[in-house]
Amino acid sequence: MTKLAMRGGAPVRSKPFTSWPMHDETERKALLRVLSSNNWGGYPSPNSEATAFGQAFAAQHDAEFGVCAANGTVTLQLALRAAGIGRGDEVIVPPLTFVATAAAPIYVGATPVFADIRPQDYTLNPEAVEAAITPRTRAVICVHLGASICDLDRLTETCRKRDLILIEDCAHMHGAKWRGRGVGSWGDFGSFSFQTTKLMTAGEGGIVITNQARFEKRLQSLINCGRREMLYEDADIEWLGHNFRITEFQAALLRAQLLRLQAQNDIRAKGYAQLDEGLSEIPGISVLEVDERNTCRTGYQYIFRFDSAALDGRTKQQVLAALNAEGIPADEGYAPLNRRHELLPEDSLHQWYDTTQHQPKFDDAGCPVAAQASQESIWLPHEIVLGGPEDVQDVIAAVKKVANNAGEIA
Ligand SMILES: Cc1ncc(COP(=O)(O)O)c(C=O)c1O
Repeated sequence: MTKLAMRGGAPVRSKPFTSWPMHDETERKALLRVLSSNNWGGYPSPNSEATAFGQAFAAQHDAEFGVCAANGTVTLQLALRAAGIGRGDEVIVPPLTFVATAAAPIYVGATPVFADIRPQDYTLNPEAVEAAITPRTRAVICVHLGASICDLDRLTETCRKRDLILIEDCAHMHGAKWRGRGVGSWGDFGSFSFQTTKLMTAGEGGIVITNQARFEKRLQSLINCGRREMLYEDADIEWLGHNFRITEFQAALLRAQLLRLQAQNDIRAKGYAQLDEGLSEIPGISVLEVDERNTCRTGYQYIFRFDSAALDGRTKQQVLAALNAEGIPADEGYAPLNRRHELLPEDSLHQWYDTTQHQPKFDDAGCPVAAQASQESIWLPHEIVLGGPEDVQDVIAAVKKVANNAGEIA
């Protein structure tokens, strides 16, 4: 009988998967180009590498403008500030996401309001958004999660009708297309992260894309200490901004990374389709739905589900431990933010809110679909498919072995 690796059997996978991030001579040359230019910093802002990258990245996503910034947390905050959102305003966010999505409204003094996700693909539910709208609502931040794109048709329609700003949090989705048009260009703003594990990286970094010139101007000013133009005289500071500029080294690295994004996304699309097919045949395992309007599939994480009852009542932690022992770097993903009271302890609220203000509501019973998703979902990092079909087959074989022998899990 097959023995699980956690019980002393041979693991399905004993060699590592493709390591991430990836680089070659293109990155090396780009870094040396900046090094020898002696023009290393973020100003004049935007500097030349940042300008070239911002334009190329925006064009790749069918947007007109791209403003680079320090990371994908501040890019969300910048989008909110550029849209004039702040104290007293409410911003609708999904609960199953990285903390930055809900933290960004808090940083600008606005209140995040959680709306549940859809069971079929774990993205923000447009009906839950409608139900969460109040007279204070000013914006929606939707998250293209894992490898699922939100229903951008419904969300853009709702935001247009209700006069709300739509910010797409695309931290997981570089290069994805919805009905042939780049993610991030459907809403008023698209926000991306270039942190180390993301689909493109400079170690850290972020970008906001937009099609609106007035927003681009504000974003450029906000990242450059509130200066009016590219200048650096103090007299040009017109409002309170931040130094959120990126360095020329980062921008040059990102220009190199952008060159191979599409080829890597093609491999991801094939790998994810192979996972869909292989995993959906395993009893007790199911995959998320892929919307047919997702015309260029990619994603930072491949997420699938297990049914504890079908797997001898095993918990997520037990299934994860069994998969990890088989050599698969699966992990638990996010816990719903609406249930994480510790994120905003009362004694720190005064930093962002006055006590009379409407404050974020943490709700243990709210967003049941997100709670269920966090219990049943298993997350795989994107690089696991970059090695090609044989690597993907190992993942499928390991999940099958664990599911078929769930009774053996310690
Ligand atoms: C959905 C989402 N939004 C925002 C961020 C924040 O990006 P950064 O780490 O660059 O600040 C992340 C990072 O993991 C993310 O996953």
